[in-house]
Amino acid sequence: MYTTVTGNSVQEAKQWLCKNELVAIPTETVYGLAANAFNAEAVQKIFSVKQRPLSNPLILHVANKDTLQALVTHLPDTAVELLKAFSPGPLTLLLNKNAKVPSVVNAGLDKVAVRIPNHQLTLNLLENLSFPLAAPSANPFGYISPTSAEHVYFQLNTKIPYILDGGFCSNGVESTVVGFNNDTPVIYRLGMITKEDIESVCGVCEINKNHVVTESPGMLPYHYSPHTPLIITDNIQEALQNYPLQNTGIITVSSLINNVPVSNQRCLSLSGNINEAARNLYRYLIELDRLQLSVIIAERLPDKGLGTTLNERLEKAAAKNILK
Ligand code: TXA
Ligand code: MG
Repeated sequence: MYTTVTGNSVQEAKQWLCKNELVAIPTETVYGLAANAFNAEAVQKIFSVKQRPLSNPLILHVANKDTLQALVTHLPDTAVELLKAFSPGPLTLLLNKNAKVPSVVNAGLDKVAVRIPNHQLTLNLLENLSFPLAAPSANPFGYISPTSAEHVYFQLNTKIPYILDGGFCSNGVESTVVGFNNDTPVIYRLGMITKEDIESVCGVCEINKNHVVTESPGMLPYHYSPHTPLIITDNIQEALQNYPLQNTGIITVSSLINNVPVSNQRCLSLSGNINEAARNLYRYLIELDRLQLSVIIAERLPDKGLGTTLNERLEKAAAKNILK
């Protein structure tokens, strides 16, 4: 049990991490639950606090390309191009790890996931550390990823000593995980960077369908789920006919719905801006989940670019109900 403190001191975050304790860190995507990646016991704590299966590998966070390169055996040419185009940023690369990285970090696999987050406070912290940070999203396993320090506090209060508060995450959805088939980039998890973005740099990009569906060996097929049952629909008016309006939460793409109490409604972006929608999605899911409603109905986004990523997150969040 800890008295969880929220603050913006890089020094304090560093002190805890150097003692092999966990610290929640801000990134441009979502908050991470970080530990000294070179210390297996510290990394184990991440799995126990999150109640995450050890079979689900973590992402290493580093400050720059040199540090990244020092953790892997080889960097394909396309990886170098992608780093130039998107790092620091929401790009996670799957690369062959070297002996410096303990196998608990990546579930004993050959590849390890590495990224350079684009958040100044966390970059300052990483520059002050002599080790990389292993960090999954800072939510209990299966729940919605936090996009503010307050979300982390709500979910992990007493479980960790320190939350480094870097404000609301500017992107709001996780990084894109990219592996390589020889030199061809392969998306293992859709994220902020789209397939089209990668194609614009590398000319080609494949999607690993199996991985996108199952995410990782041993993982449940649902994820990102609120406690409240969630339904995703193309026709929100029609879906609403089956539920009592007073006790139903609504997430719409770009307009509000008459008859549903305003307090139960969240519109992702009134101007239809997809980046704003991404920034708001988890925040709104968390807000509505706290209202103890009987159901949340979310409108599917236009299925292109970042919209495809957001729909995939909503589908996974909704999959929990189907399994029940
Ligand atoms: O934006 C993000 O990526 C955030 C912030 C905190 O950096 N992190 C994050 O971590 O979303 P996490 O652990 O919640 O998700 C990591 C994803 C999982 O889908 C995991 O299966 C995949 O990356 N992954 C990690 N290492 C892998 C590996 N060696 N092979 C295949 N997939 C891997
Ligand atoms: Mg996660």
